[in-house]
Amino acid sequence: MLPDRPVKVLIAGGGGREHALCWKLAQSPAVAAIYCAPGNGGTASTDKTTNVRIGVMEFDKIAGFCLEQKIDLVVVGPDDPLAAGLVDHLEARGLRVFGPSRQASKLEWSKAHAKEFMARHGIPTARYAVCNSQSEADKLVSGHDWARVIKVDGLALGKGVFVCDSQAEATAAVKEIFEARRFGQAGNRVVIEEKLEGEELSLLAFCDGKRLLPLPPCQDHKRRFDGDRGPNTGGMGAYSPVPIFDRCRAEIESRVLAPLEAALRQGAPEYKGVLYIGLMVCAGDPDSSGAYKPHVLEFNARFGDPETQALLPRLKSDLLPVLWACTEGALDGAEVDWLEAASCCVVAVAETYPNSSSRGQPIEIGALPPDVVLFHAGTAVSRGKLETNGGRIISVTALAPTIDAAGEKAYAALKNVSFPGMAYRLDIGRRAATRCH
Ligand code: AMP
Ligand code: GLY
Repeated sequence: MLPDRPVKVLIAGGGGREHALCWKLAQSPAVAAIYCAPGNGGTASTDKTTNVRIGVMEFDKIAGFCLEQKIDLVVVGPDDPLAAGLVDHLEARGLRVFGPSRQASKLEWSKAHAKEFMARHGIPTARYAVCNSQSEADKLVSGHDWARVIKVDGLALGKGVFVCDSQAEATAAVKEIFEARRFGQAGNRVVIEEKLEGEELSLLAFCDGKRLLPLPPCQDHKRRFDGDRGPNTGGMGAYSPVPIFDRCRAEIESRVLAPLEAALRQGAPEYKGVLYIGLMVCAGDPDSSGAYKPHVLEFNARFGDPETQALLPRLKSDLLPVLWACTEGALDGAEVDWLEAASCCVVAVAETYPNSSSRGQPIEIGALPPDVVLFHAGTAVSRGKLETNGGRIISVTALAPTIDAAGEKAYAALKNVSFPGMAYRLDIGRRAATRCH
């Protein structure tokens, strides 16, 4: 149960996702103050929000600050501190945390573990094998036509997945991981998968250890350039809802969510926080039932970025009670209402992203139209001036009755934002998936 006084929240992180969390929580009458560690140029822009100069990996400093300030709830944004055990560290000191433990977040930080978990619990996923050496991986790729997707086992900033078209390309990816060692320790092991064709969607779900409460479906655009070309990035934009979801909902519920919920209920370690389920929905076999076949591509143990920036503006109800309920195993009683309106979030990045970032360039922001929210990501305030400080710099999310209209509004709003080298995709939400091919 929430205390009957307004609470103090600390958000760990400093990206667009954390700004969206700050923005939404600041609207809650049940929240007295929000601290963001370390935050960015936008996270301290309301009366309730303050940035704290502590990095997400400085566990002792975060714990010390929370105990000193009597923080009631900590929300952990990024993957690295989850994988390194920030939740365990804070809970051991008596703090309440929204986010999974190190062991529970292994669903994200080891792709081999996630695949074994799915296989064990009958959750549909692409065919796969785990390889611990270059020779093992080379043998698999050359001996099997299906083995064309190569994934680094550990965390790799969304850049450790190679979706290849040929044996030669797959062999080159294996070489890059094991020989060039671009991913360090994370690349000591790879998961090799069958390449699936279909429509991707992200389904995030609140989880209290016993049950899953899905948020509306969302679609990310991971590739850097229009038409889904170029390198994978952290995410160049997102929209919600996803039209194909309505046609695949029954299959996703019965084939993915039901076994997942059963697995979470049975299994230690307990999972609480948000579970992000990355799905590929493939067309069904026309000879059998013809039903769509959802496959889980990946799990993330946290809110997505930029999915959160597309989703939270659609959340009509207060965010705090549902986060709190997740920490108490009490999701059954949580009320979560969503706006009918569609949303579209477009991310403005540094020209050279994802290869390098931008620092110290001035950012100009003009007036924004109604139903548009601007979230900062790689920004900082230096001597009173807003400047660039990262790869993904700023995003705008627009709400409108349709995804097309939301897209148009978001692009019109972006015209009021500028910084040297500003770049963005022009097709976010423009090809909203309506069918599975
Ligand atoms: P992941 O980080 O595992 O979600 O992979 C990043 C991206 O690679 C996904 O969003 C997909 O676009 C693509 N991908 C991953 N696994 C597969 C697969 N088995 N078949 C086809 N594409 C995939
Ligand atoms: N947008 C993908 C992620 O947050 O991992």
